[in-house]
Amino acid sequence: MDGLGAPLDCEMIEKGLRTKRLGKKIHYLSEVDSTNLYARNLAEKGGSEGEIVIAETQTHGKGRMGRSWVSPPNMNLYLSVILRPKLPPLHAPQITLMSAVALAETVQSFSPLPPEIKWPNDILVEGKKLAGILTESSCSPEKILFAVLGIGVNLNFSRELMPGPIREIATSLMILTGSPVDRGAFALQLIQNLDRCYGDLEDKGFPFIAERWRSFFRLGGRRVRVEMVDQIILGKAMGIDGDGALVLEDETGTRRRIVAGDVIPLES
Ligand code: BTN
Repeated sequence: MDGLGAPLDCEMIEKGLRTKRLGKKIHYLSEVDSTNLYARNLAEKGGSEGEIVIAETQTHGKGRMGRSWVSPPNMNLYLSVILRPKLPPLHAPQITLMSAVALAETVQSFSPLPPEIKWPNDILVEGKKLAGILTESSCSPEKILFAVLGIGVNLNFSRELMPGPIREIATSLMILTGSPVDRGAFALQLIQNLDRCYGDLEDKGFPFIAERWRSFFRLGGRRVRVEMVDQIILGKAMGIDGDGALVLEDETGTRRRIVAGDVIPLES
């Protein structure tokens, strides 16, 4: 058992993996600025699809919308994967939604309470954030050259060690279960699930993934505030469309597609 504070057992992960594409090579680092930056660097130098970067701690962990991701050592999971999907750039969001499904399914088998996906890709349990995904793509006009899929999961983060600004809005599997989680077992299952969902996206198409994504979506029909880089819109969250964009019915009754932003549920 990989206990609280012990380094991740990467050999166990490598030996246990039964995957088609992911994890043939795992770069295991004790410290890095950001696993996404490291993976991007590898991809730019020709790194292969499925190469994984895992770090025990990040000095500049990156979150969505320019935020940072708190990444203390030896207690959570910070992982990035290089993907080279055969998709046009317009469909890059499908990668993020696919990985949210894989992550939610993994959390489901470790958490006593059901996870939900907050569009596009936050994983919440009891309304608090357990995990986040940051996908960064490099594209030519006609294709995705590579995507770096970065995943951060609060596994053995105790409430006392969480910095003030996130203490009330974040949770961890240890907080939910009451005991430390085997980080190696979680990482292994997450990589397996990502491999399966990535295969499903390619073989069965996005509608198959979207249906599973919807089963984790709890804000359908709820009033929300959507905060985008340059504006805020109020409306009713209706679900996702065929490209993974959020469909929002604004206050005039007009349906709008939102491709990037933060969704905050409002009292109904
Ligand atoms: C979010 O804001 O919800 C996305 C958080 C993504 C954090 C992960 S941790 C591993 C990878 N490396 C990073 O720098 N960020 C992602």
